[in-house]
Amino acid sequence: MVAPLNSPRPTVAVVGCGRIGRVHAANLKGRARLVFASRRPRSAREFAGRFGGEAMPHLDAVLARDDVSGVVLATPLADHAAQTVAALAAGKQVLVEKPLVADPAELDQVAGALEGHPPGALMVAENYLYKPLLRRPEQWRGAIGDLRRVRLAKLTRQRAPDWRRRYGALLEGGIHFVALLGGLIVEAPDRVEAHFPGAAGPERRGEVRIRYPSGATGEIHYGWDQPSLPGGILQHSRIEGRDGRLVFESNGLYSVLASRVSGRWARFRIGPFEDLMGFRAMTRDFLRMLSDPGHRPRSDFSRARRDLELVFAAYRSAGLDPRGRRSPAEAGDVVHSAARRVD
Ligand SMILES: NC(=O)c1ccc[n+]([C@@H]2O[C@H](COP(=O)([O-])OP(=O)(O)OC[C@H]3O[C@@H](n4cnc5c(N)ncnc54)[C@H](OP(=O)(O)O)[C@@H]3O)[C@@H](O)[C@H]2O)c1
Repeated sequence: MVAPLNSPRPTVAVVGCGRIGRVHAANLKGRARLVFASRRPRSAREFAGRFGGEAMPHLDAVLARDDVSGVVLATPLADHAAQTVAALAAGKQVLVEKPLVADPAELDQVAGALEGHPPGALMVAENYLYKPLLRRPEQWRGAIGDLRRVRLAKLTRQRAPDWRRRYGALLEGGIHFVALLGGLIVEAPDRVEAHFPGAAGPERRGEVRIRYPSGATGEIHYGWDQPSLPGGILQHSRIEGRDGRLVFESNGLYSVLASRVSGRWARFRIGPFEDLMGFRAMTRDFLRMLSDPGHRPRSDFSRARRDLELVFAAYRSAGLDPRGRRSPAEAGDVVHSAARRVD
């Protein structure tokens, strides 16, 4: 539900005029009055010219404005925690890009800043929670029955020449699949075990195995160092249930559903392509949050915290720090797979 057409458009600030800031600005254009700020004032001016709106010199100037009700933080990960805390303290409703934070201490800072705020104070821009697979579960859930095993895979070639080079691939990119898994299996895991081959520095590929109290299991195979087709297309993931399974192209381009529920059958389906990446549905949820601060967005803080705790547990189980980095002393292709309980 989006705000009724006759309600006034909110004023939203997009902070961080880079790659994903452009996607947010395009989706918000025409549905909110826009204000832009970035590290370089020139970038904010360019966005204001392109999408329509006003350029501000920096975040503090944005936060001082009473008419700005929502702030989209599309900045690098190193800025997320401090900017989120500052925006909440200024009474703004926040949509912050994934991953919400880079380590457990920052997660605690955000949790502290949220105390006393309504559910609609903070949303994380985890678009995978809005992909058609989770948006329309009725199309496959009933056919496959109780979930037994979910295997998600995307091994691709992705360069990390900028600020991304400081973080592990699972934290920066694979978190999308952690969120997808959490959208499929909602119970809290009781065991997380991971393996990240490679030398010193942030991990670039890993396998995470998760066990749940019900006996269901999850697997995530994610990496940035594998030759692949553009976008990592034509790789497959699968969801297995008591009565059948759904095998899907990992981006959602097509799927095959096989079920025993009403006799043996299999159905091949292309797409659905409409809002394949979930960005538009995510923007609608954010706009609804702005019109009703009591509205709990699908991608709320509790989901983001659960996903990050899984990533941190995976790194811990493999002897890596919370940002996915192996200390130089541990360089070499060492297998670290001591399983640990998730506390
Ligand atoms: N959901 C998705 O599919 C998706 C896709 C891509 C990225 N992301 C996430 O979005 C975030 C940003 O990624 P990106 O790819 O857009 O990065 P990016 O292209 O580097 O853009 C970030 C922009 O923020 C500006 N900036 C840097 N530091 C800032 C600060 N302290 N305050 C204000 N602005 C600052 C920079 O612009 P100027 O220097 O020009 O001012 C920079 O261009 C990350 O958390 C990333 O994981 C999500």
